[in-house]
Amino acid sequence: MKNIDWSSLGFGYTKTDYNVRCHYKDGKWGAVEVSDSEMLSIHMSSTCLHYGQEAFEGLKAFRGKDGRIRVFRCEENAKRMISSANYVMMKAPPVALFTEAVNKAIRLNEAYVPPYESGASLYIRPLLIGIGPQMGVAPAKEFLFVVFVAPVGPYFKAGFKPVKAMLERKYDRAAPNGTGHVKVGGNYAAGMFSTHEAHEKGYALSIFLDSKEKRYIDECGPANFFGIKNDTYVTPSAHTILPSITNDSLMTLAKELGMTVERRKIPVEELATFDEAGGCGTAAVISPVGIIDDPESGQRITVGSPDTAGPWSTKLYNHLRSIQYGDSPDTFGWVTFVE
Ligand SMILES: Cc1ncc(COP(=O)(O)O)c(C=O)c1O
Repeated sequence: MKNIDWSSLGFGYTKTDYNVRCHYKDGKWGAVEVSDSEMLSIHMSSTCLHYGQEAFEGLKAFRGKDGRIRVFRCEENAKRMISSANYVMMKAPPVALFTEAVNKAIRLNEAYVPPYESGASLYIRPLLIGIGPQMGVAPAKEFLFVVFVAPVGPYFKAGFKPVKAMLERKYDRAAPNGTGHVKVGGNYAAGMFSTHEAHEKGYALSIFLDSKEKRYIDECGPANFFGIKNDTYVTPSAHTILPSITNDSLMTLAKELGMTVERRKIPVEELATFDEAGGCGTAAVISPVGIIDDPESGQRITVGSPDTAGPWSTKLYNHLRSIQYGDSPDTFGWVTFVE
């Protein structure tokens, strides 16, 4: 294992030894190639650069107490990349190729998978881009699929604590019938201004509203939103919302723990009725939200105890993490091993 101060790692880029790459050309995917370069050499007229023809994924690998490396729900990320690629007219790597590339990237950088005790993990970033010389707005004919990895620290260094969020009244992340349901770069560029303003005002994140009526909760920063009340887990579902693999897992665990799960529109007024709320995604599993400010009305909503994560959120968070690290049995078949 590398000599890294695992506990001081944040969620950022750290150079590892290798990445893997695969080209789609002349109507077919080539072999998975290993590279030790951090650079890509692509044509300046590539569609990914001009027209945002790209998609990406994010998943994690965890080292268990037994030393074995577990990847969490890789097949779901593969399927989501296919859905993203189809929507922006790219050729997607089939599930088997995606899985092979991810496993290879992890195996080659095995020394960077943090030790169990650190609470850190290996973040995996699959990236698909349209490349080759092209000027007009049209799908590329060549594609590059890259998988690189970076060790990332435990998300909650100061403990699993709620953050302050702001309702985003000014900007939209995705159009009603646009690209919100797929993981393409343009969605993130569209959200950067809002996030920047939220940070400037002292908020950890902005909660987006539906871009048509501004009445319903949409995404929670780069994560899905959920609220909990009366032993019920409520999460919005809309074309503008990315189908989060973490949220899907939490809904499954919530049912297993005896909760009721509702996927439906959440009107803004309902926020004040939740006992717990949060964002969920691969990076943090759950980011509890304790305070939500509405800059339009000046209203401050306090969700549960603003300084302590709620009991259901804590239970769900611990349960999911214990499956990821191999401390609890993987009854849903979510984990694959990298040997
Ligand atoms: C906009 C957005 N929503 C939700 C999520 C959570 O998805 P997942 O749980 O698959 O990481 C992410 C992160 O990938 C995201 O970027």
